[in-house]
Amino acid sequence: MLTEKDTMQSSDFLPLHGTDFIEIYVGNAKQAAHFYKTAFGFQSLAYAGPETGIKDRVSYVLIQNKMRLMLTTPLHSNSAIAEHHKKHGDGVKVLALMVEDAYDAYEQTTKRGGVSSLEPKTLSDANGEVRMSGIKTYGEVEHWFIERKNYKGVFMPGFVSWESAYNPEPTGLLYVDHCVGNVDWNQMNPWVAFYENVMGFKNILSFDDNDISTEYSALMSKVMSNGNGYVKFPINEPAEGKKKSQVEEYLEFYEGEGVQHIAIATHDIVSTVKQLMARGVEFLKVPNSYYDDLLDRVGPIEEDIEPLKELGILVDRDNEGYLLQLFTKPVEDRPTMFFEIIQRKGAKSFGKGNFKALFEAIEREQANRGNL
Ligand code: FE2
Repeated sequence: MLTEKDTMQSSDFLPLHGTDFIEIYVGNAKQAAHFYKTAFGFQSLAYAGPETGIKDRVSYVLIQNKMRLMLTTPLHSNSAIAEHHKKHGDGVKVLALMVEDAYDAYEQTTKRGGVSSLEPKTLSDANGEVRMSGIKTYGEVEHWFIERKNYKGVFMPGFVSWESAYNPEPTGLLYVDHCVGNVDWNQMNPWVAFYENVMGFKNILSFDDNDISTEYSALMSKVMSNGNGYVKFPINEPAEGKKKSQVEEYLEFYEGEGVQHIAIATHDIVSTVKQLMARGVEFLKVPNSYYDDLLDRVGPIEEDIEPLKELGILVDRDNEGYLLQLFTKPVEDRPTMFFEIIQRKGAKSFGKGNFKALFEAIEREQANRGNL
């Protein structure tokens, strides 16, 4: 007899093994790489640039457990990367997904209406081959499909191993839990349809402006997941409120749709957040009163409340368990992309119970910037 999982897998025309890497276009990759090593504990992995025969850019690849981050900077003004950076500032360009067959992923998605951004190609060197392809998603973001089962090298052909004398300790970050996109007014449902029809994802959760609103601002969100749940993309759009919502502020400063936050998993959020804070990562702070009735709201948890309160870590429960989470402030001067640190203890949701406290914290930051 087929189980529900078998049925899902047999109907999954785009099997994904998870996130392969995330590429961020930045103004100065050398300095950004130093920041992600120092502040977040990423390790040096690979490099491409003039020394490796790439003339128009440099890319540094960093790794922490299963998460790979690529930081890319243009070397001249007359390039698509430079145009992208001029318009958006630092921001995510590629959400690359690990696939079994990059040529088939391209065929399956483009025949369902996906727009090509990277024709299938095979890169090879002495360590084997990496096959890749890509399609466009919201804003100027692209999904690349990476097939690396026949590759033994450090990252992919074209990159050399990046040996650095500066190697700060990791902070316990494990892998990408989910990645959230901010889209324009009335664009959430079209992008939900894109993930359903073109990529075979399912809408597993929805939030409307009644769930996610404060006195001032509101947003709507739908969470899209692939068949095995390894890849989850919530999509946000602004909703009418008394004042400007955080999604509107993002759209204004990013000058378009793009990735709002990357959530990274840890097995020990107290330890991870302590280290991140000590290394200068700035987090949103909820008022201490959040913790007064925490246990009444979420029931018994294994952690002591005191360290959670001290660090500002948030807790929420769904019917499968609970989760602990915390959000950084934007990591660039435009109020655009930020990170979430998340530890799941059974819960498969996204912290709906924290939205109000959290958005009020975001609004205090918005007001400080004069954007509320
Ligand atoms: Fe999130």
